[in-house]
Amino acid sequence: MTSVPFAGRIAVVTGATSGIGRATALRLAADGATVHAFGRDQERLESLGKQAAGPGTLLAVQLDLTDDGAVADTVARLVEHHGRVDHLVHCAGAYSSARVEAASLADLDAQYAANVRAPYALTQRLLPALRVAGADSGADVIIVNSTQGLRAGAGTSQFAATQHAMRAFADSLRQEINEAGIRVATIHLGRTATPRQETIYAREGRAYAPDLLVQAGDVADLVAYLLGLPPTAEITELHLRPAKKSY
Ligand SMILES: NC(=O)c1ccc[n+]([C@@H]2O[C@H](COP(=O)([O-])OP(=O)(O)OC[C@H]3O[C@@H](n4cnc5c(N)ncnc54)[C@H](OP(=O)(O)O)[C@@H]3O)[C@@H](O)[C@H]2O)c1
Repeated sequence: MTSVPFAGRIAVVTGATSGIGRATALRLAADGATVHAFGRDQERLESLGKQAAGPGTLLAVQLDLTDDGAVADTVARLVEHHGRVDHLVHCAGAYSSARVEAASLADLDAQYAANVRAPYALTQRLLPALRVAGADSGADVIIVNSTQGLRAGAGTSQFAATQHAMRAFADSLRQEINEAGIRVATIHLGRTATPRQETIYAREGRAYAPDLLVQAGDVADLVAYLLGLPPTAEITELHLRPAKKSY
């Protein structure tokens, strides 16, 4: 018999139109969850919906996470329908790099909006629904962070600052909501083969060697593992890096 570990669970996955979020949304739906898969790009949302396979359900939802009104409406509809959210997985985000002397403040604002304010606001709005699941069988918030959230390299001051902020957010939130049966995990990721990483390699003038990087499916596996842990155990922070070095 096929295993359906997440049957009956309601999951929200952001960044589901690309890379890690896409792989995660597909994986959770394949494992039986009802997945609300958020992204902006309509064409990629449609292809995501077509690729999804059961036994769970994938609902592709167009949503700009920096639009407070749209987020409020989407969350209200979701909560009205399901009454609970078991798993919230944050994979959406923006990336740009530049040395401080040359960096644009508009890029700083855009990364703050997409990488800090948006996941903060979405989590805040979903907390009542996460609490419902937490009091029943347990709930999870997973934040896909970066190695830049641990130690910032040259040229990444803006992005790394947003990742440090999200690490702090996760640590603070965990202490507030563990008692409600909600776990909070941060995954600090190294280079992972996604459209974003391909762009970064091109900008660095390096040959892109995706086979040497962490695969988006590896991250999805890790998310599924974290969500499948018994409610008595919590992993708070994980570091996932390519086993081989491509740079
Ligand atoms: N790839 C890596 O090597 C790596 C390493 C460390 C950490 N990470 C982290 O892992 C996460 C996913 O990375 P990835 O490589 O899969 O990224 P990606 O390929 O660039 O995809 C980013 C996703 O975020 C969504 N997004 C961006 N801004 C949004 C907004 N305002 N509203 C809604 N959705 C928005 C995009 O949606 P649309 O395309 O529909 O606009 C897209 O689905 C990111 O948080 C990233 O920092 C990645």
